Amino acid sequence: MKRIILTILLGAALASQARADGGMWLPSLISQRIKDMRSQGCRLSAEDIYSINQASLKDAVMLFGGGCTGEMISDEGLLITNHHCGYRYIQMHSSVEHDYLRDGFWAMNRSSELPNPGLSVMFLERMEDVTDKVLAGVTVSMTESQRDSVVKAASSSLAEAASREGKGFKAEVEPLYYGNIYYLFVYREYRDVRLVGAPASSIGKFGGDTDNWMWPRHTGDFSIFRIYADKDNNPAEYSEDNVPYVPKRSLRISRKGVSEGDFTFVYGFPGTTREYLHSAGVSYVAEMSDPVKIDLRTRRLSIMKKYMDQSQAVRIQYSSKSASVANSWKKWQGEVLGLEKNHVADSKKAFERDFASWAKGGRYDGVLERLETIYSKLNPLELARDIYLETANVIELTTFAYNAGVLAVKKDSAALVKLADAFYKDWVPAIDREVFSAMMTEYDRLMADEFKCPFYKEKMNEYGSAEKWGEAIFDGSVFADRAKLEAALAQGDGFKSDPAYLFATGFSSWYYKDIVPERKKLTLELDLAYRDYMKAQMDYRPKYPFFPDANLTLRVTYGKVAGYSPADGVTYKPVSTLKGVMEKDNPDIFDYNIPQVLRDVYASGDYARVPVCFLATNHTTGGNSGSPVMDAHGNLVGLNFDRVWEGTMSDLAYDPEICRNISLDIRYVLFILEKVAGADHLIAEMKFAD
Ligand code: ARG
Ligand code: GLU
Repeated sequence: MKRIILTILLGAALASQARADGGMWLPSLISQRIKDMRSQGCRLSAEDIYSINQASLKDAVMLFGGGCTGEMISDEGLLITNHHCGYRYIQMHSSVEHDYLRDGFWAMNRSSELPNPGLSVMFLERMEDVTDKVLAGVTVSMTESQRDSVVKAASSSLAEAASREGKGFKAEVEPLYYGNIYYLFVYREYRDVRLVGAPASSIGKFGGDTDNWMWPRHTGDFSIFRIYADKDNNPAEYSEDNVPYVPKRSLRISRKGVSEGDFTFVYGFPGTTREYLHSAGVSYVAEMSDPVKIDLRTRRLSIMKKYMDQSQAVRIQYSSKSASVANSWKKWQGEVLGLEKNHVADSKKAFERDFASWAKGGRYDGVLERLETIYSKLNPLELARDIYLETANVIELTTFAYNAGVLAVKKDSAALVKLADAFYKDWVPAIDREVFSAMMTEYDRLMADEFKCPFYKEKMNEYGSAEKWGEAIFDGSVFADRAKLEAALAQGDGFKSDPAYLFATGFSSWYYKDIVPERKKLTLELDLAYRDYMKAQMDYRPKYPFFPDANLTLRVTYGKVAGYSPADGVTYKPVSTLKGVMEKDNPDIFDYNIPQVLRDVYASGDYARVPVCFLATNHTTGGNSGSPVMDAHGNLVGLNFDRVWEGTMSDLAYDPEICRNISLDIRYVLFILEKVAGADHLIAEMKFAD
């Protein structure tokens, strides 16, 4: 008996220690963590990190392009983010003649900086707990959907009032802890953001998808932009008259860097985590969703690769598309491995057993059963959705047909022309055709019969095979040929019988009828059950520091520079150097073929020890790309750009043993700017800590 108790106690103690290491903390509540941060080496005060009374580090950090993080590195509007975050824009300005992706791009003066319509950055002005205001109108007798309407109405009026506070203001109310708490986030948005420079992809994406999510890493993953404002430093649409934005705060750059064991922290916009999931949610990810998606993407990627290997033009056209398909594909593989190796579902189950005996007879009794019942209905539906989204929904031609069809009905011809331009520029019909056949074949194999779309069954009966059906679509659709599309548009006879259009609408009407409503209903029930379960977990462990799951709002996470051991007998050091770039360099392998100038520079001096990347224990996720990695004093030492794939289960369960974020050392950025880009004028704008 004694022994059992001891094991349980020890288990609980270990669990809480492990969990305490991760965490994505709200900056406005950083005072609750500052003691712990300082005990790990931080020298800053809470006010240095987040303040609404004076400029603080938060004012140097921005949401970049709606999905990445960037930070100010000069007082003249210069910002830095990852190469892969700037990728779309670098690609947009690229052609076979000016291939900035391949060769890099550096604006040598301000007038050659390139505008990027559609790109914006958002700085957080402030954040505020508005739970009382949001829930003011909620009563105990309300149904969930009544509560939902009250919450929505209160949230949007709060957000709307805040967005009127100043020029370029945007505000949002977001639920935290599954809607136990609500926060108002007030942002300022700048929309004139110009490309200043990016290294060649052979530096910025060195190692490509081969090294992606891996260590040792040698990627110079950065690009530089400049924010422009009107004469009063206010947000403004692009104009030649705009001037460089003067930020409230920019970061000082450290030339000293950090070494193993040093404290670091990351300030940025992590997208999604689900740390408090029920075991059934974990099992769904590890056993159903991830494996199916991985398999489908393996097939799609190998088709793209075959064509990209054959032609430089196709490589440019599909580089961005295939990179984004490959990215999650590889991440999911690490996630499955990590969840299994760490027995995450099992430890959740153990936790749930203890929790259940605590909850018995109290107000949370039954919450686990509620979750289980919902999951048993929701999971098959989710899987059908995952399969649909990774098969029928990835066909480029039919997706274009659908979107173009919508615009044609709206008679929005300007938007239609834009959409068509973007589509035809990067569309290779042969790839899409082959993907079509492969995906429709897989659809047949994977989709449970009860969920198979009636339209699909009908067409497969009619054509006999996915190939034949594909031929009918790709040869018969006006969307496959711009001239035909324009003629059809001119005649105004609609697309009601176009095979590509019919394909898209056939599937989407099934999806919106058979999947969406039921899923929505179950998801609402799930959210509600999680709201209770979250609260219950917090009551169950009153001393435990629960951070709110990431939701693309500003967070601080901290840790130490550290290597790791991915497998028995293997240890990774936390720092990589230029020597390693040279060791990987190989003109015959696309992903490892560095520019000749880098080889020449390397040969001309003593640069073997120039630091390139480093590992640390910061708890990050997608959205943290480009985030500033700072030292104990808040000086910029690196740019977060990745995690190690063995640790990507940190989105569901962080483990300090194996979860590492990968950062680009800022000194490699300086090295590239100085020696390769010859961009001393940019370095001259920066401020240095040492
Ligand atoms: N894995 C990183 C992230 O999730 C980098 C992705 C871009 N790089 C690449 N080789 N595809 O965004
Ligand atoms: N590359 C990721 C991003 O785009 C960061 C890696 C991660 O998922 O942690 O945000």
